[in-house]
Amino acid sequence: MFETDPDLGVNVLAVLHRIGKQSGPSFAQRLNLEGASTLLDLGGGAGTNAIAFCSVYPHLQATVFDLPQTLRVTERIVKDAGLDQRITLQPGDFNRDPLGGPYDVVLMSDILHYQDGAGNAALVKKVFTHLAPGGRLVIKDRFLDASRTSPAWTTAFAVHILVNTERGQCFTTADAMQWMTDAGFESVTELEQTAVAQGIK
Ligand SMILES: C[S@@+](CC[C@H](N)C(=O)[O-])C[C@H]1O[C@@H](n2cnc3c(N)ncnc32)[C@H](O)[C@@H]1O
Repeated sequence: MFETDPDLGVNVLAVLHRIGKQSGPSFAQRLNLEGASTLLDLGGGAGTNAIAFCSVYPHLQATVFDLPQTLRVTERIVKDAGLDQRITLQPGDFNRDPLGGPYDVVLMSDILHYQDGAGNAALVKKVFTHLAPGGRLVIKDRFLDASRTSPAWTTAFAVHILVNTERGQCFTTADAMQWMTDAGFESVTELEQTAVAQGIK
């Protein structure tokens, strides 16, 4: 959709940005990224999380990697936030193009449910190679629990994603943790139930 129907993509991003603006700063604080200098926000959309993270951590430099069509929206929002000196925009396809780095932190927020499991495993493996030693991968998504029928809202969202995207689906936190373990992350944890998983390199 973000490639083939950019107008619809812009609408989706506007909604995500409105929601994310409220929750982004407290999410950034909960992660305790005090020692980190560089953040890659992969598929970072409107730059909502990069903006929130840079606001919470004054020494952080962020890169928003996303499709060129999406970054047209991001550029305006980052400029309006007065953060264009600290947030770099990197256009590309994360499945095909190099990601830059190495980074202290990579955030993947709400991107994995548009892809299939094999694609996500490969992407997590790729991200591992773009992290500095001791770096962290934070995956935030709408995960199902082990029963795959809960939380209720995510179950409804999972049906929507199955019906309306080419190969998207909702995964469990355990799936994400397995991709990180297979990629070689030393320590893998579920930070927030059915919401956030983290791997440390
Ligand atoms: C649902 S949005 C999430 C945006 C942001 N991470 C957030 O949490 O608000 C998914 C994002 O992934 C981007 N995206 C999808 N496929 C991509 C690809 N192959 N390469 C780079 N970005 C991609 C889209 O352009 C979009 O900005």
